[in-house]
Amino acid sequence: MDDRSFVAAQDFLLASKTFWTHRLYGELRKTYEEAAARAGAPLETPAEIAALLEGDTLYRYFAWLERHLQRFKYAGRYGLVPYHDERRAELSAVLRDSNAELAPELEMPAYYRRVDIHQHPGGVWSDQLDGYVYERGARSTTPLMGASHADLHHRFTDLVASRGVADTILDMGCGFGKSTHPFCQGFPKAQVEAIDLSGPCVALGAHDARAKGESNVRFRQMNAYDTDYDGGSFDLVTSTMVIHELPPTEIERLFAEAARLLAPGGRMAHLDFYAIDSPFARFIHYGHGRRNNEPFMQPWAEMDLHGCLAELGFTNIEVIPFQEAEGVGQRGDSAWRFPWTVIYAEKQPVDML
Ligand SMILES: C[S@@+](CC[C@H](N)C(=O)[O-])C[C@H]1O[C@@H](n2cnc3c(N)ncnc32)[C@H](O)[C@@H]1O
Repeated sequence: MDDRSFVAAQDFLLASKTFWTHRLYGELRKTYEEAAARAGAPLETPAEIAALLEGDTLYRYFAWLERHLQRFKYAGRYGLVPYHDERRAELSAVLRDSNAELAPELEMPAYYRRVDIHQHPGGVWSDQLDGYVYERGARSTTPLMGASHADLHHRFTDLVASRGVADTILDMGCGFGKSTHPFCQGFPKAQVEAIDLSGPCVALGAHDARAKGESNVRFRQMNAYDTDYDGGSFDLVTSTMVIHELPPTEIERLFAEAARLLAPGGRMAHLDFYAIDSPFARFIHYGHGRRNNEPFMQPWAEMDLHGCLAELGFTNIEVIPFQEAEGVGQRGDSAWRFPWTVIYAEKQPVDML
């Protein structure tokens, strides 16, 4: 497959996703509002909204397109998987200079093995080139038409940096390093540890860090809720788009591990999808979880976060709605968007423990 056909096909998918995000979602919301007004009583639950919309052709088209645009992105003649497979020898050679610390014997948790997350065939971990496939696919996940776009990862790092310094940082579930590089750059004096279950992802992250000249980072293949670091090793623990991929028990383990790893007075900041502002947004978000093979989206969004974190001894717990780009989500903007949220909390200083 030549580059031109591949890029043209992927651009077409991105344009279709943009149509879905803006036009189709806007129309669907209008359809919902009109039907809800006719129904007379307020609709509070996703099940009530599903009952209202299930026979609606526009809703079916919206849902079908969401699932299958993503599937086409990976598979089929111009998909990410065959494209990268054809370049296997060359890309594997590039990864050979990666100094990531791999753990080939690491046991992959059942929730991770069972589902092809995001419909990525085999998940983001089972093939040596999965970091590349994931990196290319991430470019068309959230099209932002007309928004001025400082990458959301940099906006998140800026928010965390605005609240204080850090000498030691742990990025849990770093993927191919997209969330890690902004921390390396935003906290140039810090030592950054980037961990992920996926060997192919950390291999690409370490390769890119070297290419970017980042010398303050180490990429390691490791389970975020079962690390080998000593207690109190970090003054900042962070994650980006990781928590919603875990079942509730593993989420609690991840927060407990963060509590163990933080030094007294340390803080944690997680960027994820949590604070949902309307019943319709909840209905759409839970549907997205199902259609995109992210089965824990709903239990995570319904978790008693304050209770869980307070029980682990965290203080100053905050749930902060997060604007992923300038101009997005403001009045009059009817486009679909994730319920981006920062979960922020501190570990008690030593004199209070
Ligand atoms: C949506 S990706 C986000 C990657 C990266 N943080 C970013 O912002 O691009 C979620 C990542 O979490 C990783 N992950 C899931 N469960 C994990 C666990 N228990 N420990 C470490 N990483 C995990 C996955 O392998 C995947 O790379």
